[in-house]
Amino acid sequence: MKAVILVGGQGTRLRPLTHTIPKAMLPLLNIPFLKYVFELLKRHGIQEIILSTGNFLDIFENYFGDGTKHDLKIRYVKEDEPLGTAGAIKNVEKYLDDDFFIVLNGDILTDLNITKLVEYHQSKKALATLALASVEDPTSYGLVPIDSKGKVVDFLEKPGWDKVVTNFINAGTYVFKSEVLNFIPEGMNYSFEKGVFPKMVEKEEKIYGFPSNAYWLDIGTPQKYLKAHHDILERQIKFNFKGKQVKPKVWIGKNCKISAEANIFGPVVIGDNCQIEANATIFGYTTIGDNCMIGSGATIGESIFFKACKVGSSSIIKKSILCNGIELGVKVNVEDMAIAEEEKISLVDSSYNLAKKERLNDRT
Ligand code: GDD
Ligand code: MG
Repeated sequence: MKAVILVGGQGTRLRPLTHTIPKAMLPLLNIPFLKYVFELLKRHGIQEIILSTGNFLDIFENYFGDGTKHDLKIRYVKEDEPLGTAGAIKNVEKYLDDDFFIVLNGDILTDLNITKLVEYHQSKKALATLALASVEDPTSYGLVPIDSKGKVVDFLEKPGWDKVVTNFINAGTYVFKSEVLNFIPEGMNYSFEKGVFPKMVEKEEKIYGFPSNAYWLDIGTPQKYLKAHHDILERQIKFNFKGKQVKPKVWIGKNCKISAEANIFGPVVIGDNCQIEANATIFGYTTIGDNCMIGSGATIGESIFFKACKVGSSSIIKKSILCNGIELGVKVNVEDMAIAEEEKISLVDSSYNLAKKERLNDRT
């Protein structure tokens, strides 16, 4: 069974994190997000993967190669222009020679039982089966009302509250019979959500929804990306942590120099070759990437550092994200959903104030 993973979106809502790293390759507790998705697929016996990418093909390929090292067979297909979610699948049609295949949005953290999804699809003799998740606010997703037999009766992409009739949403994992490809026009931008699914419903095709209680999160905004880290550190979903667990809820990588006078309160993950000086305090729900340096007396909590970040003495970093190579001086405060990326800083929460921005730019 083959799986196509859609990783060609722009990741707009995660800018500036996605300026240089595609959403699916953002670090998740120090491993690329997509590696988690691959592990899930492998657990369900899927080893042949087609990655439908946009501009960042090299970044995927440099990390995963042909997949051999990860016990996978990976094929990359690049779109010169975005073809939309369905157009992307039509574009890889020639590699889809089985009777059915799986399609996944590449930004979903889930432990969905894909084996059960496929069994359900077959038991319904469905043309398409959509995994469904329940969320409190369905207006940011595809709304999928189903009847008592699980048949999809409507598909409304990002509806207004006045149209919300269920809390079931499209969870972004599908099983398709190959005939679904006939619903997609060739060589143009076309989407499942606004094109294929509504059309199938209208024609009363056998399109089914598969509700489940699986953990489910779209990581596509900074808040949700932080939540993904939080939930994994809370052990809400099975995850192979990188590094050695040195005490409960604290994982540390190789060659780290951590002062005996530093304080680390888990859950915390620290990468390889990191240095943490005396009296620095790292509070829970923090992930520090490889080659980072935390100066004496600095305080870090609920934050994500990518690789090679430096934080000067007595700085405070709270609930924020530092991209690769960010260097902050002494006594810098970065708080409340700030994202620091090279010279830029993005304002995600209105409580962030300009004074802090100036201090962030005032680096040593
Ligand atoms: N190859 C390719 N080409 N991939 C694409 C393209 C494209 O033109 N456009 C989007 N993608 C990929 C994105 O990289 C992402 O992995 C996935 O398709 C979904 O795109 P998003 O931009 O993240 O969509 P969304 O989150 O607003 O909505 C989708 O996901 C929701 C679940 O999280 C829809 O499928 C909703 O119906 C669904 O509820
Ligand atoms: Mg998404």
